[in-house]
Amino acid sequence: MHPFTLKYKPVKTNEIIGQEIAIKKLKKFISDYKKQKKKAVLVYGPTGIGKTISAYALANEMDLEILEVNASDIRNKEQIEQKIGSAIGQQSLFFKQKLILIDEIDGLSGTKDRGGLLAITNMLEKSSFPIILTATNPWDYKFNKLRRKTEMVEFLPLNYIEIFNILKKICDDEKIKYEDEVLKGLARRAGNDARSAVNDLQTLTIEAKELTKKGLEELGERNKLDTIINALFKIFKSTDPNVAITAFENVEEKLDQQLLWIDENLPKEYTKPEDLAKAYDKLSKADVFNRRIRRWQHYRFLVYINALITAGIAVSKKERYKHRIQYKPTGRLLKLWWAKQKSMKKKAIAEKIAEKTHSSSKDVIKNSLPYFQLAFKKNKSFRESFSEELDLSKEEVEWLRK
Ligand SMILES: Nc1ncnc2c1ncn2[C@@H]1O[C@H](COP(=O)(O)OP(=O)(O)OP(=O)(O)O)[C@@H](O)[C@H]1O
Ligand SMILES: [Mg+2]
Repeated sequence: MHPFTLKYKPVKTNEIIGQEIAIKKLKKFISDYKKQKKKAVLVYGPTGIGKTISAYALANEMDLEILEVNASDIRNKEQIEQKIGSAIGQQSLFFKQKLILIDEIDGLSGTKDRGGLLAITNMLEKSSFPIILTATNPWDYKFNKLRRKTEMVEFLPLNYIEIFNILKKICDDEKIKYEDEVLKGLARRAGNDARSAVNDLQTLTIEAKELTKKGLEELGERNKLDTIINALFKIFKSTDPNVAITAFENVEEKLDQQLLWIDENLPKEYTKPEDLAKAYDKLSKADVFNRRIRRWQHYRFLVYINALITAGIAVSKKERYKHRIQYKPTGRLLKLWWAKQKSMKKKAIAEKIAEKTHSSSKDVIKNSLPYFQLAFKKNKSFRESFSEELDLSKEEVEWLRK
């Protein structure tokens, strides 16, 4: 079985819907390349709207040899200089003209690859061939310099009628039965993203060659679940705050729901009490902010809440857990947090004591913890040496003093 996105991939520019202006600009840039002041174009726009296929279609029509460098495959500066350097220098076999495509430069992530992005930016001027770069968000500050060095060409988000037309053609070719209204519904659901619309169409018609209203509704539920689960995945499995912070970007669920999802699944994922205690600390702070929003309409707290429950929770773990958990929805209440959070800190401390005293944490909780706690409260020098020896966090010290 072929994915529709490949089977129906436009190979000519006139098959690409809704991007006529951008394609015309690109074409002009390439054919007048020798006269251009800027040696590269930065093609930008949201995902799944035809950026990559346009570069290929143009190369095809203008009889250019395309040389693609996918930015997310490049790991370091040396590789960039090597790959792109050889591409911009070399004459092609058969003396065909070349088009260089550096695709998905957002994939060069922030700080670590700053050198890489700079290397690319500096190489552009040396090129004797036209270069197309693509990005979904060109306004990121890390692209500041690149933007000055490139001609910017915007690809427009597709509207639902345009996506509907793309889908309609596929349905007719595949002899898929559909009602206009249902197909339009499918087009609308995809946002501006033609790729995801085409994929949805294929998923829904894999068994029977018919698109039904029921199928569309089920897809809605399924996708919603998919996105929240992906969000949790980003938070729980990543240790990079920059990755985690985007987790809820495309999630429809309201904040309260997001909190519940995390609350339910966090203890399954973070099995080390120390990690869990830290993460719950973030979650309960988010809960406090959330209440203030409800009471006082302090919406500016939303930003903090989001940071706490995404990046905050992501960095609460020492390292990524290797286990695979099936994340599940919840019916429970947020109030449970407080109790749980308290007992989690207790457990985390007990575990540390257990390690030092070569006993079990259960044993410590039952037997020795109360004495440690008493000594901790009463005796300053014990407090200091104990905190240091067990490497207690500020919150843990607070808990013991209570
Ligand atoms: N304007 C369009 N007209 C027709 N089909 C399209 C269009 N845009 C996207 N598609 C469909 O979506 C698929 C993906 O398009 P493409 O790879 O060009 O997206 P993109 O804009 O490069 O996205 P990304 O930013 O994720 O790389 C194509 O193979 C095609 O099936
Ligand atoms: Mg692309």
